[in-house]
Parts: sequence; structure tokens; C-alpha cells
Amino acid sequence: MATGENLFSLQDACNLVRYAGLRPGPDVLRFDCALSYGLVEYLRILEMPGSQGCARATLAVRRRPSNAARQSPSLSPAERLVPLREEDMGKLSDRVAVVTGGASGIGFGIADLYAKEGARVAIVDKNGAKAKQIAARLAKKRGAKTFATAADVGDEKQVKKAFAQVVKALGDIDILVNNAGFDSTNLVAEMSTKEWDEMIRVNLRSVFLCTREVLPAMQRQKWGRIINISSQLAHRGAETMAHYCAAKAGIMGFTRSLAYEVIKHNITVNSINPGATDTPLLRSIPKSWMKKKLAEIPAGRLGRVEEIAPTAVLLASDEGSYYVGASLNPNGGDYMI
Ligand SMILES: NC(=O)c1ccc[n+]([C@@H]2O[C@H](COP(=O)([O-])OP(=O)(O)OC[C@H]3O[C@@H](n4cnc5c(N)ncnc54)[C@H](O)[C@@H]3O)[C@@H](O)[C@H]2O)c1
Repeated sequence: MATGENLFSLQDACNLVRYAGLRPGPDVLRFDCALSYGLVEYLRILEMPGSQGCARATLAVRRRPSNAARQSPSLSPAERLVPLREEDMGKLSDRVAVVTGGASGIGFGIADLYAKEGARVAIVDKNGAKAKQIAARLAKKRGAKTFATAADVGDEKQVKKAFAQVVKALGDIDILVNNAGFDSTNLVAEMSTKEWDEMIRVNLRSVFLCTREVLPAMQRQKWGRIINISSQLAHRGAETMAHYCAAKAGIMGFTRSLAYEVIKHNITVNSINPGATDTPLLRSIPKSWMKKKLAEIPAGRLGRVEEIAPTAVLLASDEGSYYVGASLNPNGGDYMI
């Protein structure tokens, strides 16, 4: 696959704008072109100043030139464009999504599927170097516009800065996945206040901080999706994980309460409560705990990231619009409700 950038003339730009039903803006439009052996061409308008009134300044157009079109050098590139058909569009085409903790595990799986479904994806992760690597990989693999920035999502200042950077890079945020988190094990009797506070800060406070950043724009645009990654342990509880389970149960209460507040703005808020899923987080848990856990799971095995991430696509898509304050539970039968 070859990549490159083309500058189109004003005439080409106007033709395209007419095709796509958008308003003409600047003198030229910049395109990022990904050419796949001349059969399929993805064009993504990167900049379109003066395009107020458009649903989005970014538009993805898939072009399948006919043989005749390909053989006719007299046609300009814009004249050869075929407007994107609905069935060709991804479920999240033209959406801007932020996935916190997207540099690893479940968050990575979600970011990958979102990019596949046509979203522009930002990864906000405390591991900035890895987040940038993943964003670059997704851009290459999926042809998606991506962005990454480092932030500790439990820190108010860092969250504000990171979300401002995302908006600047990709536009107003349509979809937020509050996924970043960690776990640890300890008995309550032996747990320090610091250990408790850190768990609540990273796994629960972060959900509030990140959500507060995206709500004003979602309310303005009358569309939004907030997806919180809780855990089946919020329902079940787990010995030595009271702090984790408290944070994850807090997410569920937050999810339902916010869902009441914002559905009138066409914003849905839901949670996904995965069962034990094979990720770096789970691999850090003591082996004895894991052995006991595996014996309890009716499916007889850990879940895979690929079995969790599609639920986040459903909740983010237009097809998921009737899920309001719901808890979805991909968990191998470990907790059946
Ligand atoms: N793996 C499981 O079995 C499982 C089950 C239920 C719920 N979950 C939840 O799913 C989410 C993702 O877990 P995972 O298993 O993919 O873990 P993971 O460790 O593979 O990934 C977590 C990501 O979050 C990032 N992160 C951690 N703390 C952060 C912070 N303070 N600020 C910003 N980024 C931070 C990490 O750098 C990492 O990239 C977590 O909220 C976890 O509690 C996981």
C-alpha cells in the first residue's frame, strides 16, 4: 500500500464538496490518500477551514474507480469520486473517540475496533510512549486518524490538558471509553489508606474527571456515548479485592445516575463488566488467585480481548442507542444476571 498527499485545485475541491453535499470553504483541500493497488482509495479530508454547517470537517470517501473512469485521464480526481455509500461506512464513521488506557489489553482492543469502524481514535494513557506507538500502528493498519497523549487519568490537571489536546487534534469528542485502571490484592485488615485511595483515584475518580471534560460538547452536539469499563467483580465481590470491587461498583452507580441526567441530550451512558480477561493486568495477579478463578468460570477459560471489545462498538454505535444505564456482562458465565 502506497501513501501520499495530494493537493487538489479549487475546482476539484468544489466538485468534491458538491458530491459530498458539503459547503466550499478554502482555496484548496488537503487529502491523505491511501492507494491500494488502484482498486480502493480512501480519501480523508484533513483540513476544511470555513466549513461551518458541515456535520464534520472530516469526511471519508471511498472510491472505486470504474475501468472507464480509470482509463479516462480527462476526468479530474474529484469528478472520479463516488460518494461514500452507507453500506460502505463503518459503524463509527466520522466519530471522534477517546479510549483511556488504550495502550494495552481491553483498551487497545477497543481502540483497534473503533479505528476499524471508521472512528478517529485518541488514546490517553499514563504510558505515553506506548500510547503513541499504538496510535501510529492503528493509523497504519486501519488507515484511521489517531492521536495519543500521556496522562494520569486520576489527575485533574493532566486530564484537562490531555482532553484539550485531543479536541485540538481530532475535534469534539463523540465517544468516551473510561477504561484505564489497575488492580491489586490485599486483605482489608492489612490495607493502607494510601493503597485504598490510589485504587479509588485511578479506577473511579478518573471516570468522573474524564466524563466531565466531554459532557459540554456532547450536550451541545446532542449526541454522545460514554462507556465505562467496570468489572463483574462489582457484582460478585472478591476476597482481597475490596478496594477494586468498591471502585468498580462505584462506576456502576455513577453510570446509572449520569444516564438519567444526560439521556435528554441524546447521550447514553453504559458500563461493560468483563469477566476475567487475558491481559497484562490479569497476568500480574497471583497465580493461586488465578487458579481458583479459572475453576469457577463455567466457560472453563479466560475471556479474550476480542470477545470484550465488540460490546464497546455496539454501545458506541447508532445501533446501541436504546441501551441507557445498562450493564453488559461478557464474562463466560462467571456471573449470570
Ligand atoms: N483483564 C481483566 O480480567 C479485567 C476484568 C474486568 C475489568 N477489567 C478492567 O478493564 C480495564 C482495562 O484492563 P486491562 O485488563 O486491559 O489492563 P491493562 O493493564 O492491560 O491495561 C490498562 C491500561 O491502563 C493504563 N493505565 C493504568 N493506570 C492509568 C492511569 N492512572 N492513567 C492513565 N492510564 C492508566 C495502563 O498504562 C494500561 O495501558 C481496567 O479498568 C480493568 O479494571 C479488566
